[in-house]
Amino acid sequence: MKRIFSGIQPTHKMHLGNYLGAVRNWVALQGPEYETIYCVVDLHALTLPQNPDDLRAQTRELAATLIACGIDPAKSILFAQSQVTAHSELSWLLSCQTPLGWLNRMTQFKDKAGKQRDNAGLGLLAYPVLMAADILVYKGTHVPVGEDQKQHLELTREIAGSFNHRYGRDFFPLTEPQILGAATRVMSLRDGTKKMSKSDESDYSRINLTDDADTLALKFRKARTDPEPLPSEEAGLETRPEARNLVTIFSALAERPVDEVLAQYGGSQFSGFKSDLADLAVAKLAPIADELARLMADPAHVDSILRDGGARARAIADPILREVQDIMGLIRV
Ligand code: TYM
Repeated sequence: MKRIFSGIQPTHKMHLGNYLGAVRNWVALQGPEYETIYCVVDLHALTLPQNPDDLRAQTRELAATLIACGIDPAKSILFAQSQVTAHSELSWLLSCQTPLGWLNRMTQFKDKAGKQRDNAGLGLLAYPVLMAADILVYKGTHVPVGEDQKQHLELTREIAGSFNHRYGRDFFPLTEPQILGAATRVMSLRDGTKKMSKSDESDYSRINLTDDADTLALKFRKARTDPEPLPSEEAGLETRPEARNLVTIFSALAERPVDEVLAQYGGSQFSGFKSDLADLAVAKLAPIADELARLMADPAHVDSILRDGGARARAIADPILREVQDIMGLIRV
């Protein structure tokens, strides 16, 4: 059976990179071909300091945002990671089998820990093992993510493969990443060489799904570009990261190929293009923001969806965890 698992951190409101790189694909993958399990990973958020009340509120709001984007609780299991304790338990079991060398290689850890490596929390280093546990506790076969998660998913395969090898059985699947669509790596609006990220200090670097029409127009207007007009062909974007990023965002939002977008805008200045891009973003994102506002007016309803999702997730995860405990020699009395 094909089973999809994916997750998103509740450390900030959802931005356009999350949406185009991941969540829009999560929505599209719902259907008869896959069982889909989507998770707001609140335990992962704890790898950096969080205000407890904010974390709770953001977890609920992000779940509502996923529903507003089209995650349908009738088709998918939607829950918060901390509701299913099997994630943490499997994470410990897998940690005991993961060489430190594998974790030291992770670029995201190096970026986040920076020069203060000795002060970084153990959780920040162990993060990819929890991520592997998230997926493997459901025997997830497919994981739709943006490009920045590729290395973590390779590690998940290594952890699964080494478990299977050590215990001489084909227990965990070797999960396949699904890096899909036109915008697998959306870049910052202020610097086309850095990815759009929730941790960037400047809110002008990113588009949030809840930005209103004026904010969207302002952010695209202020987005960094170069003085040349737009090229007519894709090859002309190669050395122009900011131009490429805006064209990629346009193409992904409009669901039109890049060459078609450039055939329309090639030779023109950025100002007109940016204003059309802002209109397009409003047309696509405003309905999501409206639906989110409607959902947040009834937080108890959102909680009831999470409660139900958590119970359905536990029903899958707990027996798989029990099998792992048996395989590893833990006593059952
Ligand atoms: P997170 O919360 O940083 O991002 C959620 C999803 O959004 C994608 N993404 C992007 N895609 C394109 N362009 C961007 N600028 C961009 N920024 C983020 C991410 O690739 C991701 O798919 N470790 C994960 C959460 C996680 C997880 C998992 C994912 C925990 N357990 C198990 C998959 C399976 C993370 O921090 O994503």
